[in-house]
Amino acid sequence: MEQSFFPCINELIGRFGTPLYLYDFSHITQQYHALKDEFAARKSLIAYALKANSNLSLVAHLARLGSGADCVSLGEVKRALLAGIAPYKIIFSGVGKQEYEIREALKIGILFLNVESEAELLCVEKVACELGICARISLRVNPDIDPKTHPYISTGLSENKFGVSIDEAKRLYLYAHKSEHLEPVAIHFHIGSQILSLEPLAQSVQKIAALLRSLLAIGLPLRFFDVGGGIGIPYKNEQTFALYDYAQMILANLSGLDVTIICEPGRFIVGNSGFLVCSVLYEKITQSKRFVIVDGAMNDLLRPTLYQAYHDVMVWRNGWLATDNGTACDVVGPICESGDWLAKDVVLPPLQSGDLIVFKSAGAYGMAMASNYNSRERAAEVAFDHTGKIWQIRERESLQNLWALELPFLQAQN
Ligand code: LLP
Repeated sequence: MEQSFFPCINELIGRFGTPLYLYDFSHITQQYHALKDEFAARKSLIAYALKANSNLSLVAHLARLGSGADCVSLGEVKRALLAGIAPYKIIFSGVGKQEYEIREALKIGILFLNVESEAELLCVEKVACELGICARISLRVNPDIDPKTHPYISTGLSENKFGVSIDEAKRLYLYAHKSEHLEPVAIHFHIGSQILSLEPLAQSVQKIAALLRSLLAIGLPLRFFDVGGGIGIPYKNEQTFALYDYAQMILANLSGLDVTIICEPGRFIVGNSGFLVCSVLYEKITQSKRFVIVDGAMNDLLRPTLYQAYHDVMVWRNGWLATDNGTACDVVGPICESGDWLAKDVVLPPLQSGDLIVFKSAGAYGMAMASNYNSRERAAEVAFDHTGKIWQIRERESLQNLWALELPFLQAQN
């Protein structure tokens, strides 16, 4: 995978500059099929979670493979449509959908809304009534299971803001079933992200499948079993579970039921398909530490400082992978915070200005969480595939882009 673009890395950097996000679209294809194929014996929909990376060309690539979309804002729904995902493959989740977003999603005719509270259910009913339609809905059920991941991305415990309890779900499903303007079609859960052990997922599937069976038994017409996302990926050398075991566990729990399985993977599809390439600016050795200062920063890749996340690094010099011996250092950016680091205590060879540091596993929640902090332009994005084809999928922001929405007000004051 990596070798396919690195022979021309100098040319790439010459053309597009750094910091630069690079995506291997062939790897995205592989990941999509690897998951989809595990459910070949069943009706299934892979609803890619746009939040991981919502670049239009990347989503369009997934749309061409047949992917649907899991969205958490009207903006993501519109992105999915723009990228060519059909409305009937789009799901809209999130605890804080606003009335205008619900109205628009219902008008578009998406597959269903994943409802997360009683108040939201009543809002959906009201909007559907105003539109004179019946809204397809699912409830996000919180199974109260610890996914054993970073607390910020853990969502399946009763202390988290997500979903409704099993008891509340029963009550709300019955309410929705009786409503003229609500059509419960699915059941959903998502207990967290970067899950490395199958156990919490298996416990959740068991609980939610049991609830599904009891709802079907009393006549609810549920047709979709949505298992959320959360499949963990290796960043270092973590042991992940086998996709085969994951799929078989789900299939076993649904035996005898005629429901379509929906998966909402984000990280699994794009995480290890992306790289962030930065240029070394300076080395600085203080009394206590060696720092390598690069042109990328926490505004480009927030994960290290926000979640203490590890992203493996490679050093490229004059088009070659540098493998010489090194010493420990922190790789930091130009932002005015001590929290602005991209790697801590990594062993790197002596570096010179212009050497490239490539952060791996940066395809998910990298560019998607980038900001303009410190008035820094967000990076360009470039895609490549196994044939060596390269194409730009997002321009580097300009300073004009950064202040375009403020300038008219400055001018009005003068
Ligand atoms: N479905 C729902 C309802 C979600 O909340 C999420 C992620 C996904 C699917 C996709 O999860 P995945 O397959 O990517 O694990 N910024 C964090 C991750 C936040 C995940 C939020 N929800 C990070 O950089 O690790």
